[in-house]
Amino acid sequence: MTLSLAPMQGFSDQIYRSTLCHIGGVDVFYAPYIKVEGGEIKVKSLADIAPEINNGMTVVPQVLANKADDMLLVAHAVGKLGYTELNWNLGCPFPMVAKRQLGAGLLPYPEKIDSLLNDFEAQSDIALSVKMRLGYLSPDEIWPVLDVLNRHNIKEVIIHPRIGKQMYNGEADKRIMPEIVAKSAHPVAYNGDILTAEQARLLLDKNPTINNLMIGRGLLRNPFLANEIKGETLNISQKRSRFSDFTVEIAGRQLNRLQGAGHFLQKMTTYWEYWSQMFNDQHKVLKMVKKCHSVDEYFSVTEMITNNYPLSDLA
Ligand SMILES: Cc1cc2nc3c(=O)[nH]c(=O)nc-3n(C[C@H](O)[C@H](O)[C@H](O)COP(=O)(O)O)c2cc1C
Repeated sequence: MTLSLAPMQGFSDQIYRSTLCHIGGVDVFYAPYIKVEGGEIKVKSLADIAPEINNGMTVVPQVLANKADDMLLVAHAVGKLGYTELNWNLGCPFPMVAKRQLGAGLLPYPEKIDSLLNDFEAQSDIALSVKMRLGYLSPDEIWPVLDVLNRHNIKEVIIHPRIGKQMYNGEADKRIMPEIVAKSAHPVAYNGDILTAEQARLLLDKNPTINNLMIGRGLLRNPFLANEIKGETLNISQKRSRFSDFTVEIAGRQLNRLQGAGHFLQKMTTYWEYWSQMFNDQHKVLKMVKKCHSVDEYFSVTEMITNNYPLSDLA
């Protein structure tokens, strides 16, 4: 079974991926999406997946595009860096993206997906996998899209069973997975709302042919989740010290990367919105981090939290 870290803008960057890799349990790391603007790819997006800072990990780059030319540009750039697989984002639900027929916003147009894939396949050797929602406006949109994908050379179809309009509301519809697996000609992977090892086990029991689970927010809030799914148990004191090392390493590396204490504190607060869930009193923990006004204060407050605060059931 493969466990993968979901692509997450603002989170699954190289610093986070490589630090999570030290904790173990995750087999494949998806990088946040790369897009083409004005015929160009941002230098920052390619720097994040440079092979020399991503060695020792299996990383899959992702593209957000609705034109074959843009997709080919990204495929060529990642191919030059040595990557052999590119993941296509057909799931991003944000209105600014979706209304431009990108991400989940392309799902109501299976004929466009078909024509893009025809053009792409004719000109690229990069293996393409797809990460998609059930639809943008309706979950029925998935069936014609699956028919299209079945006619193409797709390495894997990763399903996040929500529709775009839902954003992250409601629950991921895990019950639809057996029907998708039955109708897909390609290997199917699952993504969405896996927060505990028990939820992973239930999903895999009900879908025996799924052998890739992609996890996003579950790993953000509990970096040991992949270990737990694989049955590797750590005692509380091991968890506490590894969690402390993990958060200190990410903070130290972000501090080197970001200009100024303000940016650093802002960035670390976004992590703690998830990490605070490792503790019993998550609201109090988050509030304490938010109140830090200097880098030194951040490190001393978070050291106190990770060494002393009672861990929640998650840990
Ligand atoms: C902060 C954030 C950023 C995300 N960025 C991306 C992205 O760049 N590409 C993508 O395909 N999905 C992105 N997603 C969606 C996740 O990859 C994943 O599909 C979603 O969080 C559901 O999985 P989960 O319940 O395990 O978190 C993002 C999600 C979050 C919360």
